[in-house]
Amino acid sequence: MTRILLVDDDIASCRTLQLHLSGLGHEVSMAHSVDEGLQLLESFKPGLVVLDIRMPGKSGLQGLPEFKSALPEVRIIMITAFHDMESTIEAMQKGADDYIHKPIDIDEFDDAVEKLLSHGEGELVETDSQSLSSLTMVGNSRAMKEIFKTIGLVAKSPATVLITGESGTGKELVARAIHRSGENPDGPFVVVNCAAIVETLLESDMFGHEKGAFTGAVAKQAGKFKLAENGTIFLDEVGELSPVMQAKLLRVIQHKEFTPLGAKESKITNARIIAATNVNLAQQVSHGAFREDLFYRLQVVNIHLPPLRERKEDIMGLVQALLARINGELNRKVVRITSDALRCLQDYHWPGNVRELENALMKAVALCPTDTLSCDLLPMEITGVSLEEVESQPVVSRPVSLQAMEKAHVKQVLEMVDWHKGRACEILEISRPRLRRMIQQYELQPPPGFVADKDNGD
Ligand SMILES: Nc1ncnc2c1ncn2[C@@H]1O[C@H](COP(=O)(O)OP(=O)(O)OP(=O)(O)O)[C@@H](O)[C@H]1O
Ligand SMILES: [Mg+2]
Repeated sequence: MTRILLVDDDIASCRTLQLHLSGLGHEVSMAHSVDEGLQLLESFKPGLVVLDIRMPGKSGLQGLPEFKSALPEVRIIMITAFHDMESTIEAMQKGADDYIHKPIDIDEFDDAVEKLLSHGEGELVETDSQSLSSLTMVGNSRAMKEIFKTIGLVAKSPATVLITGESGTGKELVARAIHRSGENPDGPFVVVNCAAIVETLLESDMFGHEKGAFTGAVAKQAGKFKLAENGTIFLDEVGELSPVMQAKLLRVIQHKEFTPLGAKESKITNARIIAATNVNLAQQVSHGAFREDLFYRLQVVNIHLPPLRERKEDIMGLVQALLARINGELNRKVVRITSDALRCLQDYHWPGNVRELENALMKAVALCPTDTLSCDLLPMEITGVSLEEVESQPVVSRPVSLQAMEKAHVKQVLEMVDWHKGRACEILEISRPRLRRMIQQYELQPPPGFVADKDNGD
């Protein structure tokens, strides 16, 4: 199974653990000081080191970084009879994977070992093979490949592009990709949020104003169309434009000219126009809320980003790319993901699309104590969905009894922690006997193939 090195000056406790671990099929070596342990590290190459803190000579805490640097892949569980918050925090910061108190509760110990060893088997996602800039778009679904082609085709042409898709699907990223592949990649890329501000301010934001054009216009100011000269102007949420602004925008597109607020003369623009919206503009047109002529002018080319749930083939690649990006930002090296966690990510319906995936991974990496991202680090709504599917009756969509909620919730939590009852009790904040009663009462079953001795003797 795994080679485990026990480093503890307490020979009796070492022997007990050795017997127990070899009984489980592991190959075990012992050392009674940090230096002895470090010597063994070379030849024995353990997958896991169990390291006592209080030892004569170097303490386990002092030794911890040396073990890590000598064998970076090694997992380390710290053990100590003295529990104080500081040494726990220090141990975790120095790279320990877990921390257990003496006298050792063998169930707790087994769970910790198993968790670490199964983590090691997590799927390795190649996150640091290339350092991805935040502008790199990934996607190997058919839809995304088509989109990349379209970007290539339209980038060099001055055609106006309308990018549509739900929130968080990557509309701005597509706009930036078009800009960077265009005639003027080094020119400005200027964003206008058409939904953010009131009409006069939006008008002055886009077209600029002369001094005194309105109360508060203390100085002449250039608008975004001016700032985007020789570059691209990105009109985000263009569906939110008022009828007046729609008319003004139409004029810019038709005649390439605009008039700053309070100015007598109009100005010429050569900015490339890209617009985006997450509302259905065609529908707005049919309701009379959006000008048809403007609609056709904007969508000379339409790029539609399908929601993430319709291109699940992209999820794996996105996880890799986003993890690489996040590792860089947070200065972490989370390069693995357990198959359970990956399955959760694959199964979820992602109403917030790629942005939601990015946020979930960001939180998970921030909380991840090891190099492996596991299910328990993902937000509840993501890990909970598999339950909805199992029960095929989303708890939120119809009123149910308190008991049904309780049953569903306990089941969900047990599944989240792989039926680790101790952890389930912690999350549910209930006692073991109470959990046991609930499991009986609700006839909850561990998944087939569940190994009984992992079951904490319950
Ligand atoms: N294909 C992709 N590859 C890599 N990252 C992506 C991809 N699609 C989206 N992202 C990332 O997801 C986040 C959201 O993307 P973006 O801001 O472009 O979405 P949006 O469609 O403009 O959203 P909204 O409608 O909410 O403004 C960004 O951090 C972006 O980098
Ligand atoms: Mg956006």
